[in-house]
Amino acid sequence: MASNSGYEKYKSDGSLLGNVLEWFDARFPATSLWRGHLAEYYAPKNFNFWYFFGSLAIVVLAIQLTTGIFLVMFYKPDAALNANGVPAAFASVEYIMRDVNWGWLIRYMHSTGASAFFIVVYLHMFRGMLYGSYRKPRELIWVFGVLIFLVLMAEAFMGYLLPWGQMSFWGAQVIVNLFSAIPLIGDPLSLWIRGDYVIGDATLNRFFSFHVIAVPLALLGLVAAHVMALHEVGSNNPDGIEIKEHLDEKGIPLDGVPFHPYYTVKDIVGVVVFAIVFAGVVFFAPEGGGYFLEYNNFFPADPLKTPPHIAPVWYFTPFYSILRAVVWPIFGIDAKFWGVVAMGASVMIIAFLPWLDRSPAKSIRYRGPIYKSFLAVFVVAFLTLGYLGTQPPSPASELISQICSLIYFGFFLAMPWYSKIDKCKPVPERVTF
Ligand code: HEM
Repeated sequence: MASNSGYEKYKSDGSLLGNVLEWFDARFPATSLWRGHLAEYYAPKNFNFWYFFGSLAIVVLAIQLTTGIFLVMFYKPDAALNANGVPAAFASVEYIMRDVNWGWLIRYMHSTGASAFFIVVYLHMFRGMLYGSYRKPRELIWVFGVLIFLVLMAEAFMGYLLPWGQMSFWGAQVIVNLFSAIPLIGDPLSLWIRGDYVIGDATLNRFFSFHVIAVPLALLGLVAAHVMALHEVGSNNPDGIEIKEHLDEKGIPLDGVPFHPYYTVKDIVGVVVFAIVFAGVVFFAPEGGGYFLEYNNFFPADPLKTPPHIAPVWYFTPFYSILRAVVWPIFGIDAKFWGVVAMGASVMIIAFLPWLDRSPAKSIRYRGPIYKSFLAVFVVAFLTLGYLGTQPPSPASELISQICSLIYFGFFLAMPWYSKIDKCKPVPERVTF
């Protein structure tokens, strides 16, 4: 079959290029991969702005891996004090910033990239909630996505320890200590994670090892599984209907267009816009107003000086607020333990969305007023939790976090009921523009 990939025509034309392609193809499935995943992968023709974020997540992953490789060339995972009395890890980051050619750019791209990753992934997940992309037959794409999200959080958490600043040290101290709230095994478990009684050189070395090799490998594997699962069933779209249900005589979806060149070109537009915004932050506001790089992290870690206010980086704060919202001991077990349980549950519950949602319509376009208003309230609650998590605790913020946590869990747990009774509009047969 003639392919619109363009390079098919070079094969068997007797030219050197044609012969090389043919030789290669007999040994590696280059043409079938190209066809199956690009030139003959039919994506719905009504993709909109929200469909930029999957490819942007791949771009940010590539930025993190490339800049990370260069950072590792100069960074030293060593908590010992150097001749100037500064921890070697902290000093090596300063060295990258001041002395290594283009080091400041590489480092700021990596630190800004971490926040960009979460912005892109949160928007990507929200798109899934707007259009019901997690619904049958895409449950596994979603579950792989939630695993990616978990692994990404682990990656960011361990990366944040590496500069060995005050927030690196005390943030890790607070989070690893949470494990000690688990009855019976808590204390030995947190000791095992740290490799020492306090966050120290042993912790720094193991976090470094996980951050640069183990977790990125898991991330790459999961992203591959995520995209393979997507290409097995095909993409959803803003109308939330299945384009494979209407095929032409050749078996091609009537509402589909080949991913390449149509969406490769569209995605490049997204990448260019992203690159402009990203460069703007890297060059003019790399600290992100204290949200991307916290001010306290410009001071070397000092185990003898606790900062007055320890807050995790912004992308963890909605879940951190849920942890802090739980203040009562239950069954005689410390509130801290239940806070950890609530925080873990708040992430894990996202994985169950495909089975909680019973609406006859997938896309927000055809859903009824109940889902629309509940989703809006959920977003406000999530953003409020995020903001409160960056602030020092107070009685008022504790109460608001508790209300927002109830809204957060209520949105998921009541979904089987309200998604079913909601008055949906009729879903069209074919995609609309
Ligand atoms: C490193 C992180 C991630 C990467 C690189 C990634 C990549 C992609 C790509 C390239 C697509 C196809 C393009 C698109 O639909 O935008 C996609 C689709 C999708 N992703 Fe992700 N993703 C990531 C994280 C996540 C997470 C955390 C979730 C959810 C928890 C998720 C859920 C989905 C779903 C449901 C689809 C299908 C969307 C549809 O067909 O409407 N992804 N992903």
